[in-house]
Amino acid sequence: MSTLSTHLLDVQQLGVQFQTPDGLVSAVNGINFSLDKGQTLGIVGESGSGKSQSVLAMMGLLASNGRATGKVLYQGKDLISMPTPELNQIRGNRIAMIFQDPMTSLNPYLTVERQMTEVLEFHRGMSRKEARVKAIQALDAVKMPEATRRIAMYPHEFSGGMRQRVMIAMALLCEPDVLIADEPTTALDVTVQAQILTLMRELQRDFGTAIVMITHDLGVVAGLCDEVMVLYGGQVMEQGSAEAIFYRPSHPYTAGLLAAVPRLEDGDAPMLAIPGSPPNMAKLPKGCPFTERCAMALPQCGTVRPAFAPSAHDATVQRACHLPLEEVTHNLLRLKAQQGVSA
Ligand SMILES: Nc1ncnc2c1ncn2[C@@H]1O[C@H](COP(=O)(O)OP(=O)(O)O)[C@@H](O)[C@H]1O
Ligand SMILES: [Mg+2]
Repeated sequence: MSTLSTHLLDVQQLGVQFQTPDGLVSAVNGINFSLDKGQTLGIVGESGSGKSQSVLAMMGLLASNGRATGKVLYQGKDLISMPTPELNQIRGNRIAMIFQDPMTSLNPYLTVERQMTEVLEFHRGMSRKEARVKAIQALDAVKMPEATRRIAMYPHEFSGGMRQRVMIAMALLCEPDVLIADEPTTALDVTVQAQILTLMRELQRDFGTAIVMITHDLGVVAGLCDEVMVLYGGQVMEQGSAEAIFYRPSHPYTAGLLAAVPRLEDGDAPMLAIPGSPPNMAKLPKGCPFTERCAMALPQCGTVRPAFAPSAHDATVQRACHLPLEEVTHNLLRLKAQQGVSA
């Protein structure tokens, strides 16, 4: 089934529901975004906000008690309603995924060479010999030293950072149009994290790959993303250009996340974590899911869900918040001042 869309990837009203003993849990509520060649979307939010389930739903990889609704149009074709054999031609080939833990996508019992050549034999019909050449090129592209020798190794023989490179090389083997990266650097130390992010920027520049970058750390999306979606409790709190989200956040949750990003110029200033913890998805309030933790919540916030609508001051940003924008800005300044004081 083909629907008109001029975008490479066009996600429309994507939702995820899980059947649980406590009833139906809505883990993702109608998210929308589109991506063109070479663009990057950042999906940001704390643990449990619905980031992973959003992209697993896009790839048809939800747990058996999960159900996806809405449309995920890849070159105009809807992945959600697509039969599995057709989807298998796209997954890992035109749209590839990398995860926080490389061991979830690497097979511990096979050498890196066998895992990589298998992908190329399946998707590209290459001979083993051709596939090996291409696999070594891919390892070179992710700056794996001594790729020709190391390709014969097993995943556990690599360091964490090198394993991440292997996984990225595998994801890029078929030169996908879209790369979905789910917290690809979370388990790595800062230096290796920076190297992997630089690598992704270079790959995007050289191959024009569109990227969906998922992270709980707003610092990671800076300098990589064109657009940012801020998720909380399975709902979009705010979405817009990365520039607007960073410099003019219009939602108290984004302001809280920003205050929690350590900045170099702040030296050893402690991060200000948002007090409280993410909501129980089975018991979300009727209104805004962030109400309980929002220092600025109004009486209606817990009962009336704010509309997701263009911001009064910046039409490129959409937000779901009852508060006037000035108050959010004021609160961010207060948080920044607190951060300064505690330094
Ligand atoms: N198989 C499942 N059954 C029921 N609920 C689930 C299942 N998988 C995930 N969830 C719910 O979806 C929510 C969002 O999960 P996820 O997208 O993985 O969060 P994150 O933003 O950390 O990636 C979780 O908090 C959980 O409540
Ligand atoms: Mg996740």
